[in-house]
Amino acid sequence: MKVSEVLHCSFPVWYPKFKQVSIKSILIPLPAEFLEYLHTDGVVLPEGSLVTSGDRENDEDRVGEELDINWDTDTLEATAPSFPDFDSAIKKAINMLGGRVFPKLNWSSPKDATWIAFDKSLKCTCPSDVYLLLKSSEFITHDLTQPFIHCEDYEENEEQPNIGYSLILRKWQDLNPGYEFRCFVRNNKLIAICQRNHTAFYDFIRHEKADIVSDIQAFFYHMVNLKFPNENYVFDVYRRDQGKLLLLDFNPFGQVTDGLMYTWDELTDSDVELKGTDSETKLPVFRYKESEGIQPNPLSTFGVPRDILDLATGTDASKLVDLLKLRQQQQEEDSSSDEDNDQT
Ligand SMILES: Nc1ncnc2c1ncn2[C@@H]1O[C@H](COP(=O)(O)OP(=O)(O)OP(=O)(O)O)[C@@H](O)[C@H]1O
Ligand SMILES: [Mg+2]
Repeated sequence: MKVSEVLHCSFPVWYPKFKQVSIKSILIPLPAEFLEYLHTDGVVLPEGSLVTSGDRENDEDRVGEELDINWDTDTLEATAPSFPDFDSAIKKAINMLGGRVFPKLNWSSPKDATWIAFDKSLKCTCPSDVYLLLKSSEFITHDLTQPFIHCEDYEENEEQPNIGYSLILRKWQDLNPGYEFRCFVRNNKLIAICQRNHTAFYDFIRHEKADIVSDIQAFFYHMVNLKFPNENYVFDVYRRDQGKLLLLDFNPFGQVTDGLMYTWDELTDSDVELKGTDSETKLPVFRYKESEGIQPNPLSTFGVPRDILDLATGTDASKLVDLLKLRQQQQEEDSSSDEDNDQT
């Protein structure tokens, strides 16, 4: 895996070429101050990203004050950064995308951080939803600090190529996880496919497997192959109906990408025919779960990150304060929308 191959999988690089077959998305370049904020520890949400009320008269007195847990939710306002232009760009994008968005950075979404969101999903409706997820995710930290970690032509301490980080907001889609597939391409050939949510059993797959493979193959040869600059890569598709496929993402061909139902030894060793390959038909191998069984949560190892311990033990009061504010905001919004509904 080379640095250039990873760069080709960066969303701002691939999306312009493939937007006709993907989900509508808006890219907002990350301002330098926001990048810095993402790099700092703790989750103090930016000022203005939350709807807050209360007395702010003594804000100045609080700068530099020792942290004391105080149930007044305004305590930490003075230390919160503020990104008014970035905030309004996010609000505008959310509006343009129908009010609900899915956030990610150049490569990763914060899917390890859904525990912190109120509805346990990545659905965002305001800037603070986005900030909280980005700040709580180790996957986002990976994008920021070590995107080229497994590249053979990259030395740590070497100057990093210019990445041009952007916040990606994608129109929210209620996706059926059973319709998502991960596809592996080696030497410009589609060699393997498997279900994206690899621990679940979907009964329909075994009935439709031939159609699934031929749809994905047709999509690959017509829409993806040779338009994407790498010879080796992984792409994710969503087959919403027969012959109707959407491109979700590109990923580097190597350890940084989860091989799901394949090991990377299987995928990379060109001397070994992938188990399941039919040398007559040259169809890609297709793996899917064939029966129900124990179904562990694939993200369970990310279930209780360090941050939750801070919350549980009260060692990071700022996170707790932010959560309380968010909950308050959510409740206020819920009750005002109830009132709206009552009036209609
Ligand atoms: N626009 C969207 N609306 C709702 N859900 C989405 C949207 N885009 C992606 N998802 C869901 O989120 C999951 C992760 O999305 P995506 O593949 O973009 O993240 P990722 O961080 O690149 O994942 P990976 O690290 O596995 O490559 C998808 O499998 C899909 O279920
Ligand atoms: Mg991805």
